[in-house]
Amino acid sequence: MNGHPLLEAREVTVRFGGLTAVDAVSAAFAPGELVGIIGPNGAGKTTFFNALSGVIVPSAGELFAGGASLAGAAPHRFAQQGIARTFQTPRVFAELSVAANIDFGLQFAGRKREAPPLLKDAGTILDLIGLSAQAALPAAAITPSQQRLLEIGMALATRPRLLLLDEVAAGLTEAEVEAMARLIRRLRDELDLTVIWIEHAVSTLLRHVERVLVLHQGRKIADGLPSEVVRNAEVIEAYLGDEMVEPA
Ligand SMILES: Nc1ncnc2c1ncn2[C@@H]1O[C@H](COP(=O)(O)OP(=O)(O)O)[C@@H](O)[C@H]1O
Ligand SMILES: [Mg+2]
Repeated sequence: MNGHPLLEAREVTVRFGGLTAVDAVSAAFAPGELVGIIGPNGAGKTTFFNALSGVIVPSAGELFAGGASLAGAAPHRFAQQGIARTFQTPRVFAELSVAANIDFGLQFAGRKREAPPLLKDAGTILDLIGLSAQAALPAAAITPSQQRLLEIGMALATRPRLLLLDEVAAGLTEAEVEAMARLIRRLRDELDLTVIWIEHAVSTLLRHVERVLVLHQGRKIADGLPSEVVRNAEVIEAYLGDEMVEPA
C-alpha cells in the first residue's frame, strides 16, 4: 500500500432529476477497516454504494482508489481495483447450481492478486460461507438467507480488496443476523479485506463495526466510533432516537 486510502470519495453528489440522493459526501476508507453505513430509508445509502462501485457516475465530486482518480472509469475498472459489492436484492443465477454461481465470480478473478487460501476455489469459498451442503442445488432452490450468503460468495470469488455489503442481513432471523455479522468480521480479519456494510439492523451493526457513517437526506451527518455516533444529537434526532433505547 502506498499510504493512500483504499477508496476515497470527495464531495460525491448524485442527482436524479431534481432529487439530490447523495449530497456532497466525502469519506475515506483505509485498508482493513470494517465500516458501517446507516440512515433512514431513502437516505442515499444504496446510491452512495452505486457510486463507490461504478454502477452510476456521480453528478459531481470525485472518487480515488489508492490515490488514483476513477473519474470516467467504466464499472469493470472499479472491479479491477478490487471493489466488489452485493445488491440489496440478491442477484444470483437462479437456474445455475450454487457452485456454478461461485465459478462465475471466479472467472473475474484471473487477473487479480494471488488468491488467499480461503478463496482458492469454489469448494473453499462454499466452506467459508457455509454452503458446501448446497453446492449442487440450483440457486433458486436455496433459502433467501442462503442466497444472500451466495451473493457474498460470488463477490468474494472475484478476490476483492474492498467488499461493499448492502443490507445482507435484511429479512434474516435474529440468530442469522448475528451469524452474518460474525461471518463479516471473519472475512475482514482473515482475508485482508476492507468492508463497508450498510444495514438496517442498527444495533447489531453498531456492535460489530469500528466506525460508522450516518447518512440523512443524502448528507453525511456523522462519521466516527459507534460509541460517539450514538451520542450525536443530530443523529439521535434524525434517526436513532427509538432504536438506541434497546439494550446494547
Ligand atoms: N435510479 C433512481 N432514479 C430516481 N430516484 C432514485 C433512483 N435510485 C434511488 N432514487 C431515490 O434516491 C433516494 C435515495 O435512495 P437510496 O439510495 O436507495 O436510499 P437508501 O438505500 O438509503 O434507502 C430515494 O429518494 C430514492 O427514491
Ligand atoms: Mg438501500
